[in-house]
Amino acid sequence: MEKLLIIDDNAEIRKQLKWGLGKEYRVLLAGDATEALSIFKAQGPQVVTLDLGLPPNPDGAEEGLRCLREMLTLDPAVKVVVISGNEERANALKAVGLGAYDFYQKPIELGELRIILARAFHLAALEAENRRLQRAMMADTPAFLGIFGHCPEMQTVFNTIRKVATCDVPVLILGESGTGKELVAQAIHSESRRRCGPFIPINCGAIPENLLESELFGHEKGSFTGAQARVQGKFEYADKGTLFLDEIGELPPVLQVKILRFLQDQRIQRVGGREDIDVDARIIAATNIDMEKAIRGGSFREDLYYRIGVITINLPPLRERGEDIVLLGNLFLGRFSEVLKKRVRGFSVAALEALQDYGWPGNVRELENKVKRAVIMAEGALLEPQDLGFATMESSAPAGDDAEMTLRAAKDRVERDLVTAAIAKQNGNILRAAEMLGISRPTIYDLMKKHGLQNTLPTS
Ligand SMILES: Nc1ncnc2c1ncn2[C@@H]1O[C@H](COP(=O)(O)OP(=O)(O)OP(=O)(O)O)[C@@H](O)[C@H]1O
Ligand SMILES: [Mg+2]
Repeated sequence: MEKLLIIDDNAEIRKQLKWGLGKEYRVLLAGDATEALSIFKAQGPQVVTLDLGLPPNPDGAEEGLRCLREMLTLDPAVKVVVISGNEERANALKAVGLGAYDFYQKPIELGELRIILARAFHLAALEAENRRLQRAMMADTPAFLGIFGHCPEMQTVFNTIRKVATCDVPVLILGESGTGKELVAQAIHSESRRRCGPFIPINCGAIPENLLESELFGHEKGSFTGAQARVQGKFEYADKGTLFLDEIGELPPVLQVKILRFLQDQRIQRVGGREDIDVDARIIAATNIDMEKAIRGGSFREDLYYRIGVITINLPPLRERGEDIVLLGNLFLGRFSEVLKKRVRGFSVAALEALQDYGWPGNVRELENKVKRAVIMAEGALLEPQDLGFATMESSAPAGDDAEMTLRAAKDRVERDLVTAAIAKQNGNILRAAEMLGISRPTIYDLMKKHGLQNTLPTS
């Protein structure tokens, strides 16, 4: 049986509601916030009715609003119907702004309340089903060895990975920074017959030129001042495995020659050494620079490019991956809200739009970082554009240090934007807009009035 928690300091009302609703729901009762929260945690009701005036100050709404906030933090999906007195309209609206599902004005008329509750339970069930489907969808999201992607361009990438993995030829991965080049290199390695061997990455752009040669090829004892012992390089470590040359476009010309030699005869020489050492390593390289331009400009050897670029994989920039932006956004949101133990449920409509409008110069890595930051900063159940570091229109905060005021202004704006968008989407049909937003008809009319939206209605 579905669970309904009734929070009211008036024992008589509790009794009557339990009597009136006990047949349909498993009714739980609480007379103050502490009791309510402990029942809430233990029982996880889908729907709650909340009288805002709770002890110790039954005439104010502070305790009720606090209780509401706490419940929504514990379970952002809970549907709370706020029961308010006639004079408490402002507080009831405030509660809706905080995330309450709806409000109902006293005196309580059981028949009416019953309809509101039935709708709240209905919506809660729909949302739960939706989340279940989303999880199921996520579970078999088109991902390939940890690389998520739905768009045709990424499917092509996955196909190429499958094909080239087993061939043991060099692969060159091209893509802007943060597009997942290293992830692809690892995928190729783990799909290849070398999967039990090592995967050794080295960033050719991050190591000073004079050290890079020894890093790659190792050195003999006494080959230069400070070379006190023989040291193996990354090539030797990568024996029987894969050497990932990241940012190969940064490789100095002398080393380009040495890599070319290795590709021709699978042998290397340590710095200061004369002995040829056989190494069985596959080379995968990556770069975010324009190789053809580098060749024309003389900074990259054409013969090396032809060797290394037999097979190239082009990773599309995130802004060209369409729906994948949201897919990846949800993936990271799920991961971080779990790791960081935050109850963030998803993105607001405005946030989804902002994600898709943005250009993503830092690609997937930037998206990952932005979502992480947002999950940390988020106050509500849904991430807003501001959480993601996107300034919304007219979002310049009022001067001064009244943070509370700014937050409320921000929430108001989001509320107004959502209502406007829903009405527009439903071609002015208020009832359908209310349904879309999951609020009742009186609530949407109140919100329209509050935000002066009555004249958004079609005039016909
Ligand atoms: N398609 C994807 N699915 C899931 N995670 C991804 C995807 N693409 C990239 N990532 C994640 O984004 C981050 C950046 O990926 P990666 O380091 O492979 O990119 P890169 O192209 O090598 O970046 P850079 O050019 O900055 O070195 C990593 O945390 C990676 O796990
Ligand atoms: Mg990288």
